[in-house]
Amino acid sequence: MRTLLVTGAAGFIGSNFVRMLLNRKEQVKLVAFDKLTYAGNLANLQDLLAKHPDQLVFVKGDICDPAAVTKAFDDHKVTEVVHFAAESHVDRSILGSGPFVQANVVGTQVMLDVSKAKNVQKFLYVSTDEVYGTLPEDKPEIKFTEETPLQPNSPYSASKAGGDCLVRSYFHTFHMPVLTTRCSNNYGPYHFPEKLIPLFVTNLMEGKKVPLYGDGLNIRDWLYVEDHCDAIYTVLNKGRFGEAYNVGGNNEITNRVITETLIREMGKNWDEVVTYVKDRPGHDRRYAIDATKIQTELGWWPKYKFETAIKTTIQWYIDNQSWWRAIKSGEYLKYYETQYAGR
Ligand SMILES: NC(=O)c1ccc[n+]([C@@H]2O[C@H](COP(=O)([O-])OP(=O)(O)OC[C@H]3O[C@@H](n4cnc5c(N)ncnc54)[C@H](O)[C@@H]3O)[C@@H](O)[C@H]2O)c1
Repeated sequence: MRTLLVTGAAGFIGSNFVRMLLNRKEQVKLVAFDKLTYAGNLANLQDLLAKHPDQLVFVKGDICDPAAVTKAFDDHKVTEVVHFAAESHVDRSILGSGPFVQANVVGTQVMLDVSKAKNVQKFLYVSTDEVYGTLPEDKPEIKFTEETPLQPNSPYSASKAGGDCLVRSYFHTFHMPVLTTRCSNNYGPYHFPEKLIPLFVTNLMEGKKVPLYGDGLNIRDWLYVEDHCDAIYTVLNKGRFGEAYNVGGNNEITNRVITETLIREMGKNWDEVVTYVKDRPGHDRRYAIDATKIQTELGWWPKYKFETAIKTTIQWYIDNQSWWRAIKSGEYLKYYETQYAGR
């Protein structure tokens, strides 16, 4: 049977990816490999580990540790790698880029080297559209294609671009069976509440203000997380080795409109809840994805519309308050020790 080593599986997108495959009853074994940094939360996988003990196993480990990665390969007879694990928050990368270079560049190098030594059948690197840099606001016809040069503007995107280039080099130098996806901004359940949408939704529920950067006119191309996970699995199954595939929802929205939508849906008043904060340094103005390649070559299209999926997302945070309240209070950091360590 195919056995997928899913790094970063306790994070936002990794856990949604594991959930999607298990819900769809895909015939794969899954090794969820995660260091459980502040962004990793075993509660994201808790129900799945209980329900699918024969198909899903959790391994606590660091992608920068070759011995730990090798052990996971050997113990579970891994055949393919889906590499999500990364430091992912741009604001934190501005405060200090060291952990980003370590996890996103060195960690990717270690994952590639162990995967090469183990003759892995496929290695998929989950990159980001942020590696392309920024687009002009006044030229809506220009979007990122896979041919757009990598011009990252934040330490986060620079470190992701470093990993992206390493993956490419292992194809050209070692003929490794690698694949890369470059997706736009995701939203959905299990999103760590330091990121815009879950931060704003949970702040509004707590009666707090929502901090809007600068003029709020930065544009992102929003995609529901399950559509991203579906694209990753499509590329893993049908993509051509050595190729990168853009993933996006053709859904450009300003931060201001996102904020207006959340405030309206939650029955709040803009003037009472919005607080303007100084813009993030190096804040990219616009991201927009041209997803023609994955659509025409692999037949992938997003299934979810923003107007409905954002309501589903808000409802999820309303229905799962214990999940995000444990994160905001810091309680979730104890979860591994009390529920899982030693098993
Ligand atoms: N969130 C988005 O909108 C988005 C869009 C495009 C691409 N991506 C990419 O998708 C991937 C996942 O993003 P996310 O939003 O789920 O991030 P996240 O921060 O929610 O999760 C990252 C996970 O990686 C784990 N991790 C970090 N360093 C590790 C290490 N050294 N060893 C093992 N595990 C480690 C963390 O514990 C966490 O569980 C990242 O590579 C990110 O660059 C994210």
